[in-house]
Amino acid sequence: MKELVSFASTRGFVYQGSEIYGGLANAWDYGPIGSQLKENLKNIWIKNFVQERPDMTLLDAAILMNSQTWITSGHVGGFSDPLMDCKACKQRLRADKLIEEYMEKSGDTEVPAEWAGESTPAANLTAYIAKKEIKCPYCGKVDFSDIKKFNLMFRTFQGVTEDSSATVYLRPETAQGIFVNFANIVRTSRKKVPFGVAQVGKAFRNEITPGNFIFRTREFEQMEIEFFCEPESVAPGKHLELHAKWKSDCMDFLTNTIGLRPELLRFRDHGADELSFYSAATTDIEFRFPFGWGELWGIADRTDYDLNAHMKESKQDLSYFDPFTNTKYVPYVIEPSLGLNRLFLVTLLNAYTQVETEEGSRIIMKFKPSIAPIKVAILPLVKKLGAEAMEIYKFLSPHFMCEYDEAGAIGKRYYRMDEIGVPFSICIDSENYNQGQLTVRDRDTGIQEIVKIENLVEYFRDKGC
Ligand code: GAP
Repeated sequence: MKELVSFASTRGFVYQGSEIYGGLANAWDYGPIGSQLKENLKNIWIKNFVQERPDMTLLDAAILMNSQTWITSGHVGGFSDPLMDCKACKQRLRADKLIEEYMEKSGDTEVPAEWAGESTPAANLTAYIAKKEIKCPYCGKVDFSDIKKFNLMFRTFQGVTEDSSATVYLRPETAQGIFVNFANIVRTSRKKVPFGVAQVGKAFRNEITPGNFIFRTREFEQMEIEFFCEPESVAPGKHLELHAKWKSDCMDFLTNTIGLRPELLRFRDHGADELSFYSAATTDIEFRFPFGWGELWGIADRTDYDLNAHMKESKQDLSYFDPFTNTKYVPYVIEPSLGLNRLFLVTLLNAYTQVETEEGSRIIMKFKPSIAPIKVAILPLVKKLGAEAMEIYKFLSPHFMCEYDEAGAIGKRYYRMDEIGVPFSICIDSENYNQGQLTVRDRDTGIQEIVKIENLVEYFRDKGC
């Protein structure tokens, strides 16, 4: 991971945030290549799950919402981490994580009473840690403070007064923007259940243990879908069928559309003791990170919990009238929720390829052409062919993200393009140019092909750019 962080910074993927002031812990900025890659991932997700599906639509809700949203959703009361301090070494620890690590290392399958990860009652976590004599991972002592719940939402004030009536939260998930707009979307989009709403946007969590580069940060982007379907009372088992279908659609997106290696991915179904009380099923798609398996995409069957809660609190009718069956019901919802920054991280890890050459070891970023930040490099063999090369740039750049580079030996420029994952490089030499053709080099094979200039756009389209 350390190697990747340094590589990502020197090649313009991701920089430390506010670097010139010594940085801000766990804040990251996406550089010229990284921001383009992130944009591509976002657009491909929208294309796959919205543009190509008649049963999906898009939403862009505000980050700041009426604070009642977060009271109703349970985030004000319950979205917190159980924290404790080691009295001996003063290290701050998350009690639920300490227990999970203990269970994983020891193979002990007994869980604390009412075990629900960070939502487990604090007294049960304390009792379990004492019973199992779990040690502080930093100093080895068993001497902890009481567990305190720490709310993860960032709070700020709207307007000039700083009292509780002006309190607003930076949204900790994008999902609630979809639920509170459910009636608006049904009314204006004319979608019929089953249908889904997709949204991409920033979310903020004051994480206690951020880290592992961009895996867990306090500011991140989510790509969430709420897929509304008939409830259990109207179509028994239908929501479970859809949950299974979404699991395979999401995995298919990762392996076929993004091109992740299947052996780096697995499903992890949540056991009954891990499920929220309202959830009928939850599955995580996990990725094998350098630090171990970690969650990439959560796919939850949230039943009618959120719509019901908002309907009760707001006194607005969020039920749905089904014109086919003449029935009125509150839909169930399947929620595939993916972190854009995590997708970005796994895309980097998946593409990062070390190759040995006569000149030493080199890195090639093997992105699929469709997600590569830059599709085509335009490289004049010699500087005096700059004007001709610029003509080619002008010809191709309306169609593809291109990079023009005339500095240095051609071999070095090819390597530079390999490092930022450009799938095709065009070398402009006068002999071929005068015959209306150019040499195109393939990043992964190094094979060079002569292509007519007039056919270049079609050629790169056929290659998936
Ligand atoms: N609406 C459901 C929800 O927010 P979640 O499991 O808390 O569920 C969904 O988050 C996804 O968002 C995760 O699978 C992960 O990809 C991403 N995510 C969550 N917290 C994150 C963080 N602190 N930094 C980066 N990504 C995060």
